[in-house]
This record gives sequence, structure tokens and C-alpha cells, in this order.
Amino acid sequence: MWRVVLLAVSSVCLSHAALPLPSYIKPCARTDPEFNKCALKSGREAIPQVIKGDRKYKVPQLDPLSIEELKIADDGSSRVGLSLVMKNAKVYGMRNSELQETNFDFVKKHNHHEMVVSHAEIIGKYEVNGRVLLLPITGSGDINITLENTKVTYDHDYTLEPVNGQIFMVIKNPTAKVTPVRAYFHLTNLFNGDPVLGNHMNNFLDENWRDVYKELSPAVITAFTEIITAILTGISNAVPFDVGFPEKLPSD
Ligand SMILES: *[C@@H]1O[C@H](CO)[C@@H](O)[C@H](O)[C@H]1NC(C)=O
Repeated sequence: MWRVVLLAVSSVCLSHAALPLPSYIKPCARTDPEFNKCALKSGREAIPQVIKGDRKYKVPQLDPLSIEELKIADDGSSRVGLSLVMKNAKVYGMRNSELQETNFDFVKKHNHHEMVVSHAEIIGKYEVNGRVLLLPITGSGDINITLENTKVTYDHDYTLEPVNGQIFMVIKNPTAKVTPVRAYFHLTNLFNGDPVLGNHMNNFLDENWRDVYKELSPAVITAFTEIITAILTGISNAVPFDVGFPEKLPSD
């Protein structure tokens, strides 16, 4: 098993406010039998604004999203391992995302969202050591992980918790699946800058992109989980449950 360590710039703040929904998110009545249809439309319309970030709701700017450190470390349980550290990484392209499905289950307290990100790039500094698909790899320089037409599914449970007389949704157990139709990897300055070995490795990574992606996917999944959790936590910590998901809309 790989251990993924991520230190995002966004600080998780546990203070709760009692704000209305941001103006760019249209509320849906949770008793509406078409709630999920309404939520999908509302979510689709909100994404371009949400991606810009919103200080008031502690949602960081999401395109690009800055990630201080992303680490895939060999925890010692496997015989041949890979250690990859990415520093000062930025994820570009969340603006290219389209919500495809959203399912809120107010009984099971479980939400499921699906989206497609047509083009995303993770750009940063890397240090790598170990083996990838059995080939030795070592180096440090610039890394570019590009993902095309990536399907992202994001699931989470939640609990409802009272704070200062109001009920808030608290996100629990977020998990994501991140499946690109194609992935590209490019690392500069591999093997102390040896151009022949470096080119050979980059070609090898490209030819075997599917298997390489499998090895690196824990880092990519962590980055996406972090982005989506930052949005949802920011808003659900600020907006009481009954305001975000009113039983009825004022006009009903
Ligand atoms: C990253 O790689 C992709 C695919 O090869 C390329 O289109 C893109 O321009 C690269 N990005 C940077 C910042 O070099």
C-alpha cells in the first residue's frame, strides 16, 4: 500500500458561521420529489463561480489549486517501491468540469456526485526514487501530469450536528474515483539530467500510461478529493442545513 500525504494550502477551519447560501447557488427544497434534478441544475450553474473561490465561505481558489506537497511513499510493505514527492504543485483545469449526476440521499445521509473534467494538468516540482513498473527511476525536476476527459465520482456520508442552536451538515468519509480516458506524464531532468535515459523513461511512461496511472493514482485521487471536500466543507460549515436544504422554498 502507498501512503499519500497531502498538505493543501486551504486551512480546514472548524468554525461555523450562519450565512445564507451564496447568491450563485440556487436552493432546492429537500421535500421536492425532483430534488436531485434541481440540485444537478443548480450545481451545474454554480460551478464556474465556485471554482473562483469564495473567501466568505472559506472556499479556496480552485483553478489553479495550490498543493504544497503531494507524496506517494513506499510504506515498506512492498518489496520494490516508488517514492514520489511533488512540491509546490498546482492543479489547473477544474474550470473544465461538468457535473453529470448528483444524488442526495437524506435518509441514508449519503451523497454521490459525478463529473467529467475535460482537461486537467498537475504541474509542479518532483523528486522520485525507486521503481516504476519494475524499471529503476530517479531524478528531480519538473513534472507534468495531464489527464484528458477524466470521470470523477465523489461519495461522502454526513452527520447533522448542532452548533450554537443551528444544525450543520458535517462531511464524513469522502472517497473519490478518478478515471481519465488518457493520461500523459512528463518529467524533466530524470537520471541527473541524462538526456538519453530521460527520453527513454518518458517514452516508456507514455507507452505504459495506463499502468503508470494506476501507480500514481493515489496521489491524483487525493488531490481531487481535497478539491471537492474543500468546496463542500466550506459551504456546509457556513450555511445551516435548513438554509442550504430548506424543507420548502419561500415561493412554494
Ligand atoms: C503538460 O503536458 C500536456 C500534454 O503533453 C501539454 O499539452 C501541456 O502544454 C503541458 N503543460 C505544461 C505547463 O507544460
